[in-house]
Amino acid sequence: MKQDDLKAAVLISGTGSNLRALINAVQNDGLKLNIVRVVSNRKAAPGIGHAKNAGIPVSVISHTDFPDRQSHDAAVAEVLEQSQAELVILAGYMRILGEDFANKYAGRMINLHPSLLPLYKGLDTYNRVLKAGDRETGSSIHFVTAGLDSGPVISQIRIPVLPDDDAASLSARLGPMEHKLVVATVELFCNREVNYDHGSVLYRGRKIGKPLQLTHDGTFI
Ligand code: GRF
Repeated sequence: MKQDDLKAAVLISGTGSNLRALINAVQNDGLKLNIVRVVSNRKAAPGIGHAKNAGIPVSVISHTDFPDRQSHDAAVAEVLEQSQAELVILAGYMRILGEDFANKYAGRMINLHPSLLPLYKGLDTYNRVLKAGDRETGSSIHFVTAGLDSGPVISQIRIPVLPDDDAASLSARLGPMEHKLVVATVELFCNREVNYDHGSVLYRGRKIGKPLQLTHDGTFI
């Protein structure tokens, strides 16, 4: 870890497999990321173990301990400020953040979503893909703005939907692809290649009209 590595906080609620992918990339592949803090809103989130094993400080800030969204958001924001995170990564964080929080971190906060946004915002994406008879699906990473799974999409990875797929098989195939996507996209931030500008994504200084697509061999097109 070097002084100028990008400082990031990762927010989780559950398994934390994307967090683990980021930790692996830092430890084994030289990703220039300094995960300064992990925040979980669930005390029993298995992902907390990945952070602890890697020696990353963890804050459990349970939403059930707060009277309303605003006060919970404020407690999370306070921890993020203390951590001096430059980037906030929502990696399976299953809490809707209030408008004030989203505005405070505009351009500095990204979210992973298991669909090809703008399709299928919200929950149960795999079943909705299957019900619609879509031939492909994927994962998206977007800047977070106020509103559910909204905000300009930075990057996506795609997989085909196979005739025998069910929600479990789709999720099992998409998971490893999503891990590639989060690592490759966070690397763009580490290299200062991606920015946010008034509701648009800038890639290498230019506004992109559609999300960057990560191929399965790890190249953005
Ligand atoms: C991922 O599918 C992500 O797209 C969604 O929540 C899931 C998190 O998985 N937002 P994990 O906790 O990183 O394993």
